[in-house]
Amino acid sequence: MASLGVNIDHLATVRQARRTVEPDPVTLALLAELGGADGITVHLREDRRHIQDRDVELLKLTVRSRLNLEMAATDAMEAVALAVRPAMVTLVPERREEVTTEGGLDVAGQGETLAGRVQRLQATGIPVSLFIDPDERQIEAAAATGSRWIELHTGPYADADWGGQPGELARLEKACDRARQLGLRVNAGHGLTYQNVEPVAAMAGVEELNIGHTIIARALAVGLTEAVREMKRLVTSPRREPLFGLEA
Ligand code: PXP
Repeated sequence: MASLGVNIDHLATVRQARRTVEPDPVTLALLAELGGADGITVHLREDRRHIQDRDVELLKLTVRSRLNLEMAATDAMEAVALAVRPAMVTLVPERREEVTTEGGLDVAGQGETLAGRVQRLQATGIPVSLFIDPDERQIEAAAATGSRWIELHTGPYADADWGGQPGELARLEKACDRARQLGLRVNAGHGLTYQNVEPVAAMAGVEELNIGHTIIARALAVGLTEAVREMKRLVTSPRREPLFGLEA
């Protein structure tokens, strides 16, 4: 049975839209854990567009499940990971223009630089996972870096129409089998929704699914009525006494 890593970047996106303090992904991560999250995933992007350094530092102290830090394969991010020491680092490709992570890492094209980074992090006891497309060449290259884990990119499966989905699912299954033959442990994620998650969750050999956007979207749907009800109560029946007791 796969476990669930909840990606909370999207909470930080809402906060950063107003540069305010709410919603706070650090406190809401606790609610995700209460709901059954087996892990909390955050992507500290180089442009800090959503998750901030302060979030990662506090989450390291407060998360009681496992903190998975997604990050670009750069020296600056490696230094952050070594300081924070999350339960796992997932290396992802990063381009400033993209709205979200688009393709998997080109491990085959990066060779030794990436292997050095994986090995340095793993030598300090931080497991490293490589986010890659379900492609045999990338899987073999990932194994060659010495990484113990991969995360298979489920975006092409999620984006396929109903006619294309069985083929994309078969591609994920084949990739998962190949990775496990090579001794890699396998996570998966990106673009999974309440509608399409089950066939991936039922795949043999996948250990954890990382899911973000659809959960935060659903939280708005199931939480909005109550949030409006609370505000309506304040607007229609405000307290008449001074809030702060500051009369002269
Ligand atoms: N896994 C990786 C490596 C990601 O970059 C993301 C998106 O931040 C996810 C999983 C979660 O994707 P989604 O928000 O589409 O569920």
